[in-house]
Amino acid sequence: MEIRNAPEELDLTDSTLIVGMLAENEPAPGAEDAYASADPALLELAKFEGKTGQVLTLPHSEAKAVVFVGLGEEASFETIRSGIGNAARVVKTGRAVTNLNQIPVDGATRAVVEGAALGGYQFRAYKTEGEGLSLETLELVDGDEEALAETVVTTEATNLARDWVNTPALDKAPEALAETIRAAAESAGLSVEVWDEDRIIDEKLGALLGVAAGSDRPPRLVVVEHRPEGAGAHLGLVGKGITFDSGGLSIKTAQHMEEMKDDMSGAAVVIAATIAIARLGLPVRVTTVVPLTDNAVGGKATRPGDVLRPVSGPTIEVLNTDAEGRLILADGLGVVRRYEPDLIIDVATLTGAAHVALGDKIAAVFGSSSDVAAQVLDAASRAGEHFWEMPLFEDYKKSMESDIADLKNISGGRYGGAITAALFLSSYVDGERWAHLDIAGPARSRETAGEHVKGASGVGVRTLVELARAMAAPA
Ligand code: BES
Ligand code: ZN
Ligand code: ZN
Repeated sequence: MEIRNAPEELDLTDSTLIVGMLAENEPAPGAEDAYASADPALLELAKFEGKTGQVLTLPHSEAKAVVFVGLGEEASFETIRSGIGNAARVVKTGRAVTNLNQIPVDGATRAVVEGAALGGYQFRAYKTEGEGLSLETLELVDGDEEALAETVVTTEATNLARDWVNTPALDKAPEALAETIRAAAESAGLSVEVWDEDRIIDEKLGALLGVAAGSDRPPRLVVVEHRPEGAGAHLGLVGKGITFDSGGLSIKTAQHMEEMKDDMSGAAVVIAATIAIARLGLPVRVTTVVPLTDNAVGGKATRPGDVLRPVSGPTIEVLNTDAEGRLILADGLGVVRRYEPDLIIDVATLTGAAHVALGDKIAAVFGSSSDVAAQVLDAASRAGEHFWEMPLFEDYKKSMESDIADLKNISGGRYGGAITAALFLSSYVDGERWAHLDIAGPARSRETAGEHVKGASGVGVRTLVELARAMAAPA
């Protein structure tokens, strides 16, 4: 879908109008004309009341049709993003026009573009009829030029992460995914280094190698760098890149395995965010590291009880091979720390426990200090993504002590699993400002609604871009 500003001379004849409507059928300010054109009997017939989630298509005197979008009691970025997302799926062909004057929130351009670009997303690479029906062009009347251009970048990056996560594991072996990442990152002007298995062995990334041991598809580690001139701050990103999580010898049940192609969401998100940051030309240095590997079962697979040596930090007794994300992240953190960033953020579909704690729509954030967590939460709220702070409760660290190694990779108990996983990771940073984002719940949307489309969500991309934007801003 192309999103652009409408020409001065607006011609509605071959287009569909999208109009915001407040609850109790109050037209949004400026939308009075479109509202007046609607037959009250048809509004009544559809019980259209301007509630959030409601969409109604009616005839229009000038345009092909008008799509009324419910914005709720009071329009906000959230209801606009969501309403336009719904509208983007209702109009399945041609051109649509929406008038920002009709949307009664200052600076709504970003929310409109997010709604349309994210809500209109489709993943059709594996459909025989590859070209789905979709809105081709959205024109904004009185849209903010700069916000439009920036939001096109962040939403394209989000959709790129969605594409990678939605791709079947068969078609994203570590080697293939690394090359896909290389191509995308290089075309955004980033510098890319791909470490193959020999390099990973030379570098002594023993935890990544331990997870990779059970697979016939060799691991990779990708380092992407954005080094703009005049950058003040330096952000380090690490993403979990498990290209399929079978659980390893501690194998998952069939049901728990179904969605495990998603387990490289963290990697997809940090790379896509880095690409967006480069495209936006944000003057902040970014170093992004993604370890990529399957977690498979094979004759050479790591066994429960084996001990792994990450590149730096504590040795690890692997008691459950399904707690593999923290293993590859230990090495990922070890690599990113060498670049001495001012702030390190890791992103991972790390624990079912985070999903249990916060549900499908909220991601967990753990910060090395409440200050770092607040930095992420602020960025998330500006980006319109939902994060919630969870505690790095030191007392629980005892449960990760191993009898024979420095740490074990599970706590042994069922409870507080997102916290113990985060505490484990904290052993692989050493005084750095660091935050861990556990996106196991919201990495996948379970239903299509508003800007969310069933499947990979790309959650985290826009938050990381906002975070970089804030780091780039002069203090
Ligand atoms: N990839 C999973 C976590 C996950 C679960 C992501 C559901 C998305 C949806 C992770 O590697 C895992 O298996 N974690 C285990 C850890 C346990 C063995 C301590 C879990 O959460 O059950
Ligand atoms: Zn696992
Ligand atoms: Zn996993």
